[in-house]
This record gives sequence, C-alpha cells and structure tokens, in this order.
Amino acid sequence: MLIDQVGPEIEIHTPAKLNLFLEVLFRREDGFHEIETLMTSISIYDTIYFSTRTDHQLRLTCGWAHGTRARSSGELTSGQRVGDLPEGGDNIVLQAVDRLQKHSGVRSGASIRLVKRIPSSSGLGGASSDAAAALVAANSAWKLGCSRDELRTVAAEIGSDVPFFLDCGSAMCRGRGERIQPVVGLPRMHFAVVRPPEGLSTPRVFKQCRPPADPVRAGDLLDALRFGCPSTWSRHLMNRLQETAERMSPWIQRIRRVFDRVGCLGHQMSGSGSCYFGICRNGRDARRIARILRANRLGLSMHANTVTATQLGASLR
Ligand code: C5P
Repeated sequence: MLIDQVGPEIEIHTPAKLNLFLEVLFRREDGFHEIETLMTSISIYDTIYFSTRTDHQLRLTCGWAHGTRARSSGELTSGQRVGDLPEGGDNIVLQAVDRLQKHSGVRSGASIRLVKRIPSSSGLGGASSDAAAALVAANSAWKLGCSRDELRTVAAEIGSDVPFFLDCGSAMCRGRGERIQPVVGLPRMHFAVVRPPEGLSTPRVFKQCRPPADPVRAGDLLDALRFGCPSTWSRHLMNRLQETAERMSPWIQRIRRVFDRVGCLGHQMSGSGSCYFGICRNGRDARRIARILRANRLGLSMHANTVTATQLGASLR
C-alpha cells in the first residue's frame, strides 16, 4: 500500500488483488475451506484517509470515487454496477480499527474516510484491502508500535484475505488464506478486468463448491510464470470456485465466452467472483480488451497491471 501523511491525516492507497490460482483442498471442521491460492496485487486502488480523534469514537464515511459507477455500462442501479457499500458497523474497516483499539487499549478514536474504486462482492479483495490499510493507518496514527506479526494476528481475525494486504505484492496463501508466503520473480502482467452486474457471496460460493479428490497444486503455474513462455500460462491458470460460480451466475459463462474470442494469454474468475480477468500481452492490449468488454455491456470494465511489494512500499515513510 502507498502511505502518505498530509498534515494530521494519513492517506493510504490500497490495491485490489487477483487470484491467478485457487485450489480448494478440503472442507475444515470449523466450516472454512483449506485453500492454496496465488494472489497478486493490481493497480486498482481504494483510498483511506485516517485522522485521530481526542474522544474514543470511531467514525466512518465512504463513497465511490468520481466516475467509478459511471464507467459501468447498461441501465443498472449503483449496487448492480459496483456492489453495495456497507457503512457503519457492517464495514470491516470499522471492525478492524475497533479490534485494534481494544487490543491496544488506546484512548484515541478515529475519523476515517474511504474512497472506493474496487467493486465489492467481486473477488478483488476490496474490503479486505481497506481493512488492512485501516490497521496500518491506526497503528501509525495512534503510535502503537505494533509489529507486523501482531497486525497479522488482528488482520486474520477480521478476514481470511486481510493479512495478504498488509504487505501486498504477490504471495502464495494457504490455510484459509491467512498464511502468507511472499512470491518474487513474477513477470509484470497486464490485465483486462470486468465486474458483471451482479456480485457473488463468498460463503455461498464456498458452500456449494465440492473439493476435488485429487487437488491440483500451484507449483506448475509458478514455474510457468517465472521461467515459461507466456503462451504456456493459460494451461496452468486455475480457479476451483469458477465452475460453482458459473452455476450461480449466468454472467460468468457469458464473460468467459467473450474472453475466449479476444486473444488473451489466459483468463479466469478471481477469488469467489464475480470479477473475471484476462492476462493480456501488454498494456495497450489490456485497454483494447477492456473496450471490447465495455462494448459487450458485460459490466464495469477496467485495465490494470501487477504491482510489486517494493513498488507499493516505495513511498512508505
Ligand atoms: O474469512 P472471510 O470472512 O473472508 O470468509 C467469509 C466466508 O467465506 C467464511 O465465513 C466461509 O464461509 C467462507 N470461506 C471458506 N473458506 C475460506 C475462506 C472463506 O469457506 N478459505
């Protein structure tokens, strides 16, 4: 995440992610699923503005960034275009900051403003990314001095994907997604990303997915990305949740068929959906394919590239 301090306010740009690989290994006793997933941060950002309050209160306001909803095609309500925007206690930003406030015993409160560009219920990790940014902002603004490990523990209590966003970049994530192993040496990739007019609920998609008897592992994709020719990547891309998501939403299949025709290096759904992405030959191709998706009225079309942990840490002070 990109962190800046403007006067008394901390400003953080926190990225979305894509799942280049996601296998469901088995269903656990606690109801979660053991997974293996390769996640990479991409250049679509939410922005969080955090300032401390002298009282103990936590206040959150949030809204979509100018133009985010307008870029979506079709006659849709804003909820259909980019997803709903939970305010107040339903927003995991407030849950994260509340947990850190209790964990640390700090007396200060916070006023937080969240500007959203990452569509919700879409498998891009927007809410998790916002929660991770809020933890980092609170730790800095409240001068708590919590270590990364302490923040990771709090993050994992908020949601399975939240720990990944503390460091961003690319990582192999295991357990329920909270066990992070950073991955370096991946090539820079360009993506066309589309968020169809309906989102998908993560618990519902996981619940309806049957873990395979013989799970696939991510090693072959890692090797192909690091050492292989880009034309081999599509063979190893994989998202176990996609088949289930296609049964739940007709949009996923419709989008897959368009991606089959546009000439990508590979394509699939991200996370538990409903966003779908294609890996494109370069940035120009990503913009071309995003335009085709928009013309086909498949939802909110975006283009993005991978961002590394080093790039995201560059402006950290
Ligand atoms: O951890 P998070 O709050 O993002 O998970 C939301 C829901 O998604 C969980 O309550 C669970 O039903 C499902 N899930 C799962 N296995 C995972 C991650 C999430 O079953 N590895």
